[in-house]
Amino acid sequence: MKVSPSILTCDFAHGADELHYVENSGADMVHLDVMDGVFVPNLSFGPPVIAALRPHTGLFFDVHLMMEHPRRLLPAFAKAGADLLNIHLECADPIEDTLADIRSLGKQAAITLKPGTPAEAAFSYLPLVDMVLVMTVEPGFGGQSFMADMMPKVAALRAEIDRQGLPVTIQVDGGINAATAATVAAAGADIAVMGSALFNAENPRALVDLVHGM
Ligand code: DX5
Ligand code: ZN
Repeated sequence: MKVSPSILTCDFAHGADELHYVENSGADMVHLDVMDGVFVPNLSFGPPVIAALRPHTGLFFDVHLMMEHPRRLLPAFAKAGADLLNIHLECADPIEDTLADIRSLGKQAAITLKPGTPAEAAFSYLPLVDMVLVMTVEPGFGGQSFMADMMPKVAALRAEIDRQGLPVTIQVDGGINAATAATVAAAGADIAVMGSALFNAENPRALVDLVHGM
């Protein structure tokens, strides 16, 4: 599996250093958690912070938009340096049109499912996306416990992606550490988001190497 470290738990006063920590771990990309205080009960950051971080790494920016209305800000996120824009299936904007907007900005597109949303809700959108994200915590905060009962959803999405013959990757986000990464790999995930586990790791490179081998 690939690893996408969530910088939600990093020290934002030293963002450039934290990106170098991610690079030195050998991780594949950077996961940026955008929260609007409406879709989730927390606020994080938006396009200006992403633009400030952008010059400090060449890593792919995987932007997870936990927003009620992501559509109107897509051009700003694209301009800030996002490589992939990921919207929630439960947001208030029209999904197909919003995914089309992401594509027309020349960015990769993804959809995310909250724990209560069934795999089947995503099936019709799979041909329109590069990636689907299965949340393994309720979105809003880092450092929560992994929900192993989401694994049948990962397996159902894997089966449907393969049935449709699509090049869509599956990402899993929330409570992933060395132990739970093995569980999500077995269920068919391709990319593990890691926030607190990676930033609190004594040896981040060993952790990333371990997940790369799964
Ligand atoms: C939760 C975010 C996650 C989370 C990951 O709303 O989408 O990316 O912060 O952090 P850990 O790995 O600590 O659960
Ligand atoms: Zn996330």
